Amino acid sequence: KSINVFAPATVANVACGFDIFGFAVDNPGDKITLTLREEPGVTITDIIGDDGRLPREAHRNTAGIAIQSYLQHIGRTDVGVDAVLYKQMPLGSGLGSSAASAVAGVFAINELLDRPLTTRQLIPFAMEGERIACGSAHADNVGPSLLGGFVVVRSYQPLDVIRIDTTANLFCTLVHPDIEVNTKDARFILKNEVSLKNTITQMGNVAGLIAGLMTPDYDLISRSLVDVIIEPVRAILIPEFNEAKQAALESGALGCSISGSGPSMFALSRDAETASRVGAAMQQAFLGVGITSEAYISEI
Ligand code: HSE
Repeated sequence: KSINVFAPATVANVACGFDIFGFAVDNPGDKITLTLREEPGVTITDIIGDDGRLPREAHRNTAGIAIQSYLQHIGRTDVGVDAVLYKQMPLGSGLGSSAASAVAGVFAINELLDRPLTTRQLIPFAMEGERIACGSAHADNVGPSLLGGFVVVRSYQPLDVIRIDTTANLFCTLVHPDIEVNTKDARFILKNEVSLKNTITQMGNVAGLIAGLMTPDYDLISRSLVDVIIEPVRAILIPEFNEAKQAALESGALGCSISGSGPSMFALSRDAETASRVGAAMQQAFLGVGITSEAYISEI
């Protein structure tokens, strides 16, 4: 018995919601082919598209560890799987690459075993993939990659993941400059203390963004797509960040910030045409310093 599963890339943080906001895009994404076998254990038989950079040992691979912890949890250590992973997005990109692999793996095994768990119940196992990928089991990529749409992680302990029924019509431009940022490093440089003033500003924007998405109120969404805590620290990891952001806003985007831990940047626009124009302007900004990039447009 065999299955092919696609899991989408995700934009985590969405400006103001560090570790608590994320949404899924249409493309890119990762694919996995999982084949059930009688011999117990998880074997990564092949990984296509990673230039040999990802660990092949199941317990060190985000998809492998997610499947292993799932099988242990449901008490099915009697069965095993062979997995072929198709990496269809760059590593260290801020597009939720490690999350997409883990999500594809855990969703696939649950289907192969005739769904002992609901999709929502799969989140903690996919989070295990994040833990080994970057040292922190954050859910703002795996949540939306599994559930689709815009997701809020209201709490980590206990885990409380909410899917927001946004009525807003939005298009996302994702631009991935051809450089790499390691999530572990991008988390390491963050400060542990946040001023009360910045906390208040950030909480206002978090509340404003959710209200704006649900109303929908596009001006409110635009005013709320602001991050005064994480972006100012991480922007230094992305050459031409300010120029690319400025270009996006001048081209009509409602807002623009870092996608996940970067270097990818995202912008939200009201229509596909603006989203394409925004993408071209951002790519041009990167080209100004000789950095080529990939742009993806999705409706969210
Ligand atoms: N919330 C995480 C971070 C996402 O910003 O570190 C990483 O993809």
